[in-house]
Amino acid sequence: MRTQVAIIGAGPSGLLLGQLLYKAGIDAVIVERQSPDYVLGRIRAGVLEQVSIDLLDKAGVGQRMHAEGLPHGGIELLFKGARHRIDLEGLTGGKHVMVYGQTEVTRDLMEARSAAGLTTIYQAGDVTLHDFDGAQPKVRYTKDGQTHEIACDFIAGCDGYHGVSRASVPESALRTYEKVYPFGWLGVLADVPPVSHELIYANTGRGFALCSMRSAKRSRYYVQVPMEEKVENWSDAAFWAELRNRLDPEAAERLVTGPSLEKSIAPLRSFVAEPMRFGRLFLAGDAAHIVPPTGAKGLNLAASDVGYLSTAFAEYYGEKSPVGIDTYSDRCLRRVWKAERFSWWFTSLMHRFPETGEFGQKIQEAELDYLVQSKAASTALAENYVGLPLV
Ligand code: FAD
Ligand code: DHB
Repeated sequence: MRTQVAIIGAGPSGLLLGQLLYKAGIDAVIVERQSPDYVLGRIRAGVLEQVSIDLLDKAGVGQRMHAEGLPHGGIELLFKGARHRIDLEGLTGGKHVMVYGQTEVTRDLMEARSAAGLTTIYQAGDVTLHDFDGAQPKVRYTKDGQTHEIACDFIAGCDGYHGVSRASVPESALRTYEKVYPFGWLGVLADVPPVSHELIYANTGRGFALCSMRSAKRSRYYVQVPMEEKVENWSDAAFWAELRNRLDPEAAERLVTGPSLEKSIAPLRSFVAEPMRFGRLFLAGDAAHIVPPTGAKGLNLAASDVGYLSTAFAEYYGEKSPVGIDTYSDRCLRRVWKAERFSWWFTSLMHRFPETGEFGQKIQEAELDYLVQSKAASTALAENYVGLPLV
């Protein structure tokens, strides 16, 4: 088989890139290790920035998002037992975010891809990348006991943190930066109305909590747990009791509980691999960088990477210009590091760190108090939360 761009991974970055390339008249094939149902079963991000909304519109898949997504013009910060609203819209000149789950984004992209008759190879085994330092890269995989080869002009590594693309780059060509946090997020998805119509980020002596949602009838909640915690140790009743304990009295009273549809623990990590291009291989999304989820930046960074990459390929094929592909890594990394900084800062502000004790808690409360009182500090939070502009 031959194509212009071979995309590894059918997560949000691979699928969105595929759709943007299709709109630009560029041929692409996606190779994915898992089945479509497995990919759709992963419950992850929930908040889209304007940049991501615009890219989904450009890809022609924004219809259901605009109909069913929930625009949010504010978030609430809960500390010392009281909630304080950050007016995202007022502080950023009218910008907002959209609450629309990664599962739905992925579903919309999958449906658009199959409606357009584009090729995705699911359940591909032993995916390997070849010759991306030369002019004729290749991707090989096995399916139904046979080995297949895709010859291509470029490879897009959209296969997440544990994928094969970054692992195929010689170690000497890669510099990595990493921070692992000593806790994770225990998340529950449940068909119960959200406790509040806006998201609540809570700093408490018992640890962080987040009240989010997927719709007016479906809630997504998280509580900070120690890194070594096991999900099997958490019954639904234990989860609801812990979440209630981390809310202010009014929210605790309003909290509606119910059976969990999904329950899992996500570890928290900051990670960046530089550069994001090696010859004709380009890394995008979680394959190149991970943020702790506190600022809801992971999916949004994946979207902006593939926004840059699709434009670069369109310039290469359309205007015969290599400028986009030559500047891809630097442009992405400027944005990535700002999101890394914000996610690290918001994580550090909101979580309980075992090593800093009560002093750390007091310092966090003082910073939060300053944050909600100072327009300058609230504006810095709001600008980053709604997403920095593309440069
Ligand atoms: P992925 O979504 O990881 O997709 C990569 C795809 O590549 C997968 O489908 C995988 O099966 C496939 N693949 C892997 N290896 C291979 C291979 N060898 N061959 C072929 N295919 C392969 N972000 C937020 O903003 N908010 C959140 O609340 C949040 N929660 C998260 C919870 C968890 C448990 C995780 C892991 C991430 C979370 N994120 C969150 C981050 C966000 O979901 C990611 O940033 C986003 O999924 C990145 O998309 P991606 O397409 O780059 O990578
Ligand atoms: C969600 C996840 C986040 O990391 C976040 O900051 C906000 C919302 C969510 O899953 O809904």
